[in-house]
Amino acid sequence: MAQVERLVQWANETGEAEIATASDLVGGAAYDEHGEAVSDATMEKAIKADAVMLGAVGGPKWDGVPYDKRPEAGLLRLRKDLELFANLRPAICYPALADASSLKRELVDGLDIMIVRELTGGVYFGEPKEITDLGNGQKRAVDTQVYETYEIERIARVAFELAKKRGNLVHSAEKRNVMKTGVLWHEVVTQIHKDEFSDVQLQHILADNCAMQLIRYPKQFDVIVTDNLFGDVLSDEASMATGSLGMLPSASLGAEDENGRRKALYEPVHGSAPDIAGRDIANPIATIASFAMCLRYSFDLGGLADRIEGAIAKVLDQGYRTADIMQDGKHEVGTTQMGDAILAALKG
Ligand code: IPM
Ligand code: MG
Repeated sequence: MAQVERLVQWANETGEAEIATASDLVGGAAYDEHGEAVSDATMEKAIKADAVMLGAVGGPKWDGVPYDKRPEAGLLRLRKDLELFANLRPAICYPALADASSLKRELVDGLDIMIVRELTGGVYFGEPKEITDLGNGQKRAVDTQVYETYEIERIARVAFELAKKRGNLVHSAEKRNVMKTGVLWHEVVTQIHKDEFSDVQLQHILADNCAMQLIRYPKQFDVIVTDNLFGDVLSDEASMATGSLGMLPSASLGAEDENGRRKALYEPVHGSAPDIAGRDIANPIATIASFAMCLRYSFDLGGLADRIEGAIAKVLDQGYRTADIMQDGKHEVGTTQMGDAILAALKG
């Protein structure tokens, strides 16, 4: 996030943008300070902001804290209370990194997929969600997967709208062969397609097959729309095709209000990396690319977003690599140095 703060400062100083910022704590740091993964005061600030940039949460230090106060609970509360139902997770393979992927270059070079993950429903939030002691030495754990029509309709619309500006193809992934939510998901997506987006190509795919196809031939996909849990899993999988989980940004968007504005939160797809915290070696690219998405979707600064993404591609071309994407013959740099290189590419 420190590298994003430098970009904001640069954009303000050069008049490219006029962005006021405030920072606050979420996750383990918030727990240490306030005994909550996100405080009510922080939530209020987040609700008032035009956009929230979020760093990753979590670490072994907080393994023992009560379940509802664990670092992840802060992130889930932000998503839920801001009603950020649409999570956009692009998986783009920078040509310079095609060899860093565990898949063959020809499968991933030029890859550009958009995973649209439903973010405020499904098994993450469904009730009951509990572990009951059965009293005979056994326990029973229950999570509830639940979706209502409107939740599927609104996420389907986001996916179809995005597809219209891209490859005009949507894959809708569910498990209708075993899950009632999958049956409803299939039915509702089919209806929205028929009523509002019949000019976009729609393919239904079982989520397990989707996982397999992402490895077999990822370029067959354009937009994939799926539920909260499948989206969590499939987006991690798709990220590896791009070379590193450290590369992928995300945007989480709410519904448009009467002024056409949406609540929004931007965060890297990757989680925290407590084992390397504070050593200035983490890859800042996913967070910087999340800031580019923020400029595009929240501030209507698509031109500047394009230039930041261009600067990322340029420094990769120039051979700059953080440790996670290091390859033979390239120039290994730390977090701050990667920030330096991206700023220099922007200025140059
Ligand atoms: C993600 C993460 C989160 C999720 C965790 C940290 C709760 O894996 O954003 O993909 O499961 O949604
Ligand atoms: Mg995840």
